[in-house]
Amino acid sequence: MTRILVTGGAGFIGSNYVRMLLERGEDEVLNLDALTYAGNLENLAEVEDSPAYSFVKADIRDAERIQAIFEQHRPEVVVHFAAESHVDRSVLDATEFVQTNVVGTQVLLDAARRTGVTRFVHVSTDEVYGSLGDTGLFTEDSPLQPNSPYSASKTGSDLLVRAAYHTHGFDTVITRCSNNYGPYQFPEKLIPLMIANALEGKKLPVYGDGKNVRDWIHVRDHCEGVDVVRRRGQAGEVYNLGGNSERQNLQVVRGILELAGKGEELIEYVTDRPGHDRRYAIDASKVQAEFGWEPTMTFEQGLEETFRWYVDHRDWWERVRSGAYQDYYARNYGARLGG
Ligand code: NAD
Ligand code: TYD
Repeated sequence: MTRILVTGGAGFIGSNYVRMLLERGEDEVLNLDALTYAGNLENLAEVEDSPAYSFVKADIRDAERIQAIFEQHRPEVVVHFAAESHVDRSVLDATEFVQTNVVGTQVLLDAARRTGVTRFVHVSTDEVYGSLGDTGLFTEDSPLQPNSPYSASKTGSDLLVRAAYHTHGFDTVITRCSNNYGPYQFPEKLIPLMIANALEGKKLPVYGDGKNVRDWIHVRDHCEGVDVVRRRGQAGEVYNLGGNSERQNLQVVRGILELAGKGEELIEYVTDRPGHDRRYAIDASKVQAEFGWEPTMTFEQGLEETFRWYVDHRDWWERVRSGAYQDYYARNYGARLGG
């Protein structure tokens, strides 16, 4: 049994990862999460009674507390998901993105190194590479050219992780994955937002011309990829993970409308996101060649499964959408509608 500290385990990908580890039953998991608007312990209700699981509410920006937690729990491995993760929020205000993603990552690196952690897995994003034209794929050697405050802050964290390896010989690995979808994704990102709006008969706000391309991966495939890198990745290396499923946003939205049995009149073209990256696409051949990892789910399968999950868990997304999220929705879309 390895003692694994997972940061951000109450969020979308982190909770899927924690569930996967506990279902596998090979490791002890300490979930460290500040429970921001995006963190919800309900996501882990099925596994929270497991004797191999524990939770601590803490903010990764709080260096003293993080150091004390590492001294008390002595994790062997850290898998770091905690972040501010939504591009549109970073456009409205970048402060928390710098504090959590950059400062928080350094706080964790310091505490982990000082207390003898043997491996630090940093979960990053393909957005650090910037935007592609109509052709080409991001490889691990593509230049880092982030365009949004979110991706710039993730790039900052990647570089601090790199520096911890080069300066201190600390064992780190970085994964850079494409856009995730699946159960427990907060309904502010494209797929869950569009599913929830379609189910409620609300407008589906498509930014710009709707032809931006993302490479979609089911969250379970991403979690398997992170875990393969945790177990087998080489210290100091970066590993791309992707879904081999490039789709234009409009294709995604039309697929959701079809599953919901709703018509195209629900689509509303709204003012584009400032600095909106045109296309992301990942070359994940390194991790495939080295570890045999590849995504298992087709986008159509995954989208249908995800759509059913949101139909079956309406109470979950109605609850998480209430309260603070309503203020954000008004701020982000209020000025855009009719644009
Ligand atoms: P999320 O927003 O759903 O979850 C983030 C979690 O981090 C929440 O539980 C939140 O409470 C916690 N958190 C935020 N600030 C914190 C702080 N200061 N201290 C402690 N906990 C804090 O995000 P997600 O979509 O699950 O993404 C997880 C990670 O994966 C992020 O690092 C993100 O950059 C990366 N990633 C996401 C995607 C994607 O498509 N969602 C793709 C590639 C990489
Ligand atoms: P998002 O899920 O926010 O992920 P990211 O920006 O990190 O790739 O957005 C995915 C794509 O969908 C992106 O091109 C922006 C677009 N989008 C919309 O058109 N409307 C929306 O309401 C949202 C949230 C996103």
